[in-house]
Amino acid sequence: MRADIVVLPGDGIGPEVAAAATDVLAAVGRRYGHSFRFETRLIGGAAIDAEGAPLSDATLEACRAADAVLLGAVGGPKWGTGPVRPEQGLLRLRKDLGLYANLRPVRTHPVTLTASPIKSHLLTGVDLIVVRELTGGVYFGAKTRNEDAASDLCEYSVAEIERTVRRACALARGRRKYVVSVEKANVLETARLWREVATRVARDEFPDVRMEHQLVDSMAMHLIARPREYDVIVTENMFGDILTDEASMLAGSMGLLPSASLGDGKLGVYEPIHGSAPDIAGLGIANPVGAILSAAMLLRHSLGLEDEARCVEKAVAHAIDHGALTADLADSAGPSGRTLGTVAMTAAVLAQLEVDCAAVVLRD
Ligand code: IPM
Ligand code: MG
Repeated sequence: MRADIVVLPGDGIGPEVAAAATDVLAAVGRRYGHSFRFETRLIGGAAIDAEGAPLSDATLEACRAADAVLLGAVGGPKWGTGPVRPEQGLLRLRKDLGLYANLRPVRTHPVTLTASPIKSHLLTGVDLIVVRELTGGVYFGAKTRNEDAASDLCEYSVAEIERTVRRACALARGRRKYVVSVEKANVLETARLWREVATRVARDEFPDVRMEHQLVDSMAMHLIARPREYDVIVTENMFGDILTDEASMLAGSMGLLPSASLGDGKLGVYEPIHGSAPDIAGLGIANPVGAILSAAMLLRHSLGLEDEARCVEKAVAHAIDHGALTADLADSAGPSGRTLGTVAMTAAVLAQLEVDCAAVVLRD
């Protein structure tokens, strides 16, 4: 197949991990006979510096016209928290492309259990996915500011909740048919609406899916205390942001987790959940796995290439099996403590891809 992919490397370690993910996609294309065309554009601080805005109209339109968007990371101390911020580019991209459902899968790997601060026996076999609402809530509500006060409005419509919960329930059908909906219904009005709508959608449209409700504060605790019990977790924008950073500690490092931001069509934005990590930018030690697994999600969700997606996921898992680990996972590196840089880690995945994809081709 032919596919146009816009690459938005962004800031900090963004360009390093985006390059790794692009290399992997290019290798998949060669291996399976697909023609992927990559167009690199600016977002975030890099776009502020070069174009005066964190996401230009031209870049937004290029993304809209593409089959998929691969993103690195945005932000950094250089741009501060003034009126024009790198993060606004990312928020505009999500909002204007209508990407309301952010899928953040969390799996543990036997080799990296020891990189987590949580006891290993609690982590074995964790396989959950957070569906985070991405274009509503307090992130996008009206904001006010004067000299001695500020406000951020949190607003949700029934339709916004319905479509996100539907996505989560549909996903659960292909998994353990179990969804936990997370909000703060004992305090917030938007959360009471969320709970009502979630209950109705699950009951009327997904009778085969079991739904439970959990307050976000207790969810934060249970996620650490008994992570294996969860399958699909659906929640609003800010709670999802917070819970997925927490959930990354189950996997052992933020650097491991991918995400897919999806709307009603095929177009999606794929990015690791980690930030721009300015402290290690340019050192060549960033973990590319979150970005590479995001590329796998791109193959699956935007291009419909399930075999290819699984092949990338398998290659990553096997590379880690064979001891390929970046510095963020040093605790799992054994007595030698040897870790790989970004390029070497990517090379390990690419080498493994040759082995794993060959197997797929032969089987087919
Ligand atoms: C994320 C990030 C973003 C968010 C920032 C960079 C705006 O933390 O994707 O999780 O809060 O959504
Ligand atoms: Mg975040």
